[in-house]
Amino acid sequence: MNQEAQSYDAWAAEVRDLARERNAIILAHNYQLPWIQDVADHVGDSLALSRVAAASDAETIVFCGVHFMAETAKILAPERTVLLPVLEAGCSLADTVTAEGVLKWRKDHPDGLVVAYVNTSAAVKAVSDVCCTSANAVEVVLSLPEDRDILFLPDFFLGNHVIRTTGRKLDLWMGECHVHAKISPLQLRQKVEAEPDAELLIHPECGCAASALTLLDDGEIPAERTHILSTGAMVERAINLGTGSALIATETGIIHQLRKANPLGDFRAVDPEAVCQFMKMITPQALLRSLQEGTYEIEVPEDIRLRAYAAVERMVSIGSSPVLSR
Ligand code: 13P
Ligand code: SF4
Repeated sequence: MNQEAQSYDAWAAEVRDLARERNAIILAHNYQLPWIQDVADHVGDSLALSRVAAASDAETIVFCGVHFMAETAKILAPERTVLLPVLEAGCSLADTVTAEGVLKWRKDHPDGLVVAYVNTSAAVKAVSDVCCTSANAVEVVLSLPEDRDILFLPDFFLGNHVIRTTGRKLDLWMGECHVHAKISPLQLRQKVEAEPDAELLIHPECGCAASALTLLDDGEIPAERTHILSTGAMVERAINLGTGSALIATETGIIHQLRKANPLGDFRAVDPEAVCQFMKMITPQALLRSLQEGTYEIEVPEDIRLRAYAAVERMVSIGSSPVLSR
């Protein structure tokens, strides 16, 4: 056994023992470091992990992800202790919108509905009508009455994907994720030219999502091999790939999960630099410390939680997404 595997085994045994002692479950988003994904009880996308949090009867939920994910777990499971191992693990996309900004739009559209992507603070969720994730944004929008104005926030690229897919007219917030927005149409075109037989799995937050559709329209990539998917749906797709290859346009942490789901497939990043520094703050040491010291407990003021709950509860009741469990 090599040294890396030995130190993983020793660390993982300590983490699992501490989790057992605390009656804790460990949830890890698909963008987490490989060690964190491998030690977690459940790995998945935002929708799948929210559902696991809502259904769990563990005393403590250790959320290996970013702040809004831990807050969403607390909104759904207020009686549980929710820990985020590093408090500074934020999200540049969630930071583009405030509750005040949403209330201003509402003032101008008194009859409008606000659809908030899960990548938002609890305060923003509390002034929204319904939340969604990338796994169910289309279904959530289709569930709303056709005669109402809709503000979709905060991700502009995801909003555009929903417009294209549903044909609904939406007001879009001009927010973006700094990691996904940088995955460029040029990179996508170059990778597709270099690997013409590969499938294309693209997260709808990506700046290149629109240009993938242009490549489709121009016949440069085949429709049957191009998929705009949440990270959870990418894992499902990977399982069906057999010995084929796929180009992945999203944060590179997902590739570990895709290779585990299908060791025979060949998975490559469209942009190997697409790394979210917030997700990577959850180091093996930080997770261990979180379990040892109970850090950092996430709280959501009860008045905000109650108002956010209705929007989040609706989100978890729509659509499906896989979760990988130990
Ligand atoms: P999903 O895992 O829900 O597709 O979301 C991606 C994301 O950007 C999380 O930050
Ligand atoms: Fe936020 Fe982007 Fe990081 Fe996801 S990848 S947590 S959207 S900054």
